[in-house]
Amino acid sequence: MTGYFVSFEGPDGAGKSTVLKEVLAKIGSQLKPQYLVTREPGGSKIAEKIRDIILDPANDKMDAKTEALLYAAARSQHVEEIIKPALTAGKIVFSDRFVDSSLAYQGEGRDLGIKEVKQINDFATNKLDPDLTFFIDVAPEIGLSRIQKLRPGQEDRLEQENLSFHKKVYQGFLKVRAMYPERFVTIDGTQPIDQVVDQVIATLKQRMPEIF
Ligand code: TMP
Repeated sequence: MTGYFVSFEGPDGAGKSTVLKEVLAKIGSQLKPQYLVTREPGGSKIAEKIRDIILDPANDKMDAKTEALLYAAARSQHVEEIIKPALTAGKIVFSDRFVDSSLAYQGEGRDLGIKEVKQINDFATNKLDPDLTFFIDVAPEIGLSRIQKLRPGQEDRLEQENLSFHKKVYQGFLKVRAMYPERFVTIDGTQPIDQVVDQVIATLKQRMPEIF
């Protein structure tokens, strides 16, 4: 595949989605290849339906393995329908979350095991890996309090989990980052948004100069 695959990861409330939006508002028009912005869980019609099931607070009886498999199922559809065709066409794909989220949330947070969750995701994606991953780093305490302020009483099923779950997820991200030091770039998500955005752009220019 000839395109560029860039993912954004981080705990809930890290601000990934805002960062991604602001980055593209600043540099979208300068990018040589066409680009698309997508997200997980979701990113395609079928995958967005699976997203609704996963995140519905009413589904509080969902088994951890069911959850991991639903994320992987949504991802498989997203990869086949949206990501792979775009990469094959030489485009840049910016994804708000990808497999690393499953490794951190389901592998570590739900205690299913990072290795085990990686295996089902390898099956789901045919081992597709991002070329570059931005880890927007905020402590779980800060992330959660941002969400509670932003959308009080409207947290989704995962966001409703307690702080100890989110602390495990955060540790999971640190383990996943250590597994892939060559593609992970950590950005301090507690800085003012403009600084976060500028650091992401500077990294893109340094790592992928040919896309500008
Ligand atoms: P979002 O808030 O970034 O849209 O993600 C929705 C929630 O799903 C968030 O709490 C993180 C969680 N998640 C997982 O647990 N595993 C995954 O594989 C993905 C992509 C997201």
